[in-house]
Amino acid sequence: MTRRPDGIRGTTITGTGMYVPERVLTNRDLEKLVETSDEWIVERTGIRERRIAAPDQASSDLALIASRRALEMADVDPASVDHIVLATTTPDRILPSCACTLQQKLGATKAAAYDMFAACTGFVFGMGLARGLVGAGVADTVLVIGVETLSRIVDYTDRNTCVLFGDGAGAAVIQACETGVGLHAVDMHSDGELGEVLEVPAGISRNPASDHTVAAHEHYIRMQGKKLFPFAVRSMEDSTRRCAEAAGWTPADIDLFIPHQANLRIIEGVRERLGLAEDKAYVNIERYGNTSSASIPIALDECVRSGRLKPGDKLAMAAFGGGATWGATAMTWTLAAQRAGEAGAHARPQREAVS
Ligand code: ACO
Repeated sequence: MTRRPDGIRGTTITGTGMYVPERVLTNRDLEKLVETSDEWIVERTGIRERRIAAPDQASSDLALIASRRALEMADVDPASVDHIVLATTTPDRILPSCACTLQQKLGATKAAAYDMFAACTGFVFGMGLARGLVGAGVADTVLVIGVETLSRIVDYTDRNTCVLFGDGAGAAVIQACETGVGLHAVDMHSDGELGEVLEVPAGISRNPASDHTVAAHEHYIRMQGKKLFPFAVRSMEDSTRRCAEAAGWTPADIDLFIPHQANLRIIEGVRERLGLAEDKAYVNIERYGNTSSASIPIALDECVRSGRLKPGDKLAMAAFGGGATWGATAMTWTLAAQRAGEAGAHARPQREAVS
């Protein structure tokens, strides 16, 4: 491990893991719940199916499996993790934090654990925070997680939103490395002016839970998808360009682009504006839908375990989400050890509908 002239340490990802619940909700299943069709969903979003957490699975349960896999790949004992940064919009409860619940389940006894609320950009923001902590020498090992059980806040009578979202978890271990490789840049932005475009209107201090809020479906996600669409494309493109420039690259240098998986048309729009060939953007939205903060670390783990990412590859990741928030990262991949997907990493699908 080396330091830059300004004393900042290099930082990199030394392990990744993911978990998605077994239960599969297909477009055909959704046709039975709302007025929609497989054709409409595939054409407008690229999504074919998504995973749904079992009734006894909360976000911390999903995060636990993804975290164990990431720590195992990094060969890190949970007891030596310094910080747990858990990005989510769907913690188990408001209090205690989902990160503290995970800390107890993992046995990460010395870790400072806290939740990050940055919607779909949460994992990218978590990477930014972890880079600061490890780079400055405040921490040696940071576990960053993106986890969602969005099925618990999706209104399955609203066809505008229920076709989009799914459940899952992804995790990454961040540690120090040589300078010149690993994370070169993390770009992070917010604009509260766009807050009402994507919201859960009730449940906390502005509009506490009541019989009225429950009857009015105010505990569910509400979204103005059409307004988000152009913002999503523009913000991910801009942020990726900024990160590439900070890394001394042009977008054409990027070997692998992992975008937040919100809509295939958004991903294609960003890819084309960046001038990237089709095979450079990783897409798994057809299998999982939009898993918000979990979508990038799930995709990242698939790329690592399948051998799609190799040491020396130039990797860019970009996200946008509610808040609004958006951001990107640029890194030179360093992780050589790839483990074949363990049994259960991609759990066997069970096809059934949500009632
Ligand atoms: N099935 C059939 N018809 C539908 C469905 C559905 N599931 N959903 C909407 N429609 C209808 C609409 O009601 C509308 O009908 P109308 O013209 O009679 O009013 C018509 O289809 C067209 O709707 P549009 O909104 O124009 O459809 P669009 O092509 O914009 O696609 C979508 C909608 C998929 C939501 C798109 O706008 C989108 O992906 N936006 C971005 C959303 C996003 O990324 N959200 C995640 C943010 S990240 C986070 O933080 C969680």
